[in-house]
Amino acid sequence: MTQQIFVLNGPNLNLLGTREPEIYGADTLDDIEQRMRAAAPDAEITFRQTNSEGDLVDWVQEASKKADHLIINAGAYTHTSVALHDALRACNAEIIEVHLSNPAAREAFRTTNYVAPCASASIAGFGASGYLMALTAILQKT
Ligand code: DQA
Repeated sequence: MTQQIFVLNGPNLNLLGTREPEIYGADTLDDIEQRMRAAAPDAEITFRQTNSEGDLVDWVQEASKKADHLIINAGAYTHTSVALHDALRACNAEIIEVHLSNPAAREAFRTTNYVAPCASASIAGFGASGYLMALTAILQKT
């Protein structure tokens, strides 16, 4: 059966490539999407970005119905969103959390994390490679 993989990206990740490149790197979100598709040609990848908390909640609910795996970088909603936490808790897909930077090593407000308790794994601090690491782990397991 074709693996259904949702990759959901939260606020400001549409700015990757130009947004604080010293923290988030020079790769754009399009670069990351292309690399993931190339790395998993046999999987069906749904790749999305939104700046809206409600969209993210709706898409997690959609992933729960359609996806085997959910790779999520919730951006700043990681640190603020109880609504996202609740949606993830109810999600049937396997959840892998990804961050380009390592929030635990940054400002104190980034150490609050509403996503990690709902995830089976977290990858942080490897830049864009973290998305590929998450995908590789999924493909190796299945
Ligand atoms: C981020 C880390 C978050 O703290 C931040 O708000 C982001 C990006 C990351 O990928 O490193 O928007 O999720």
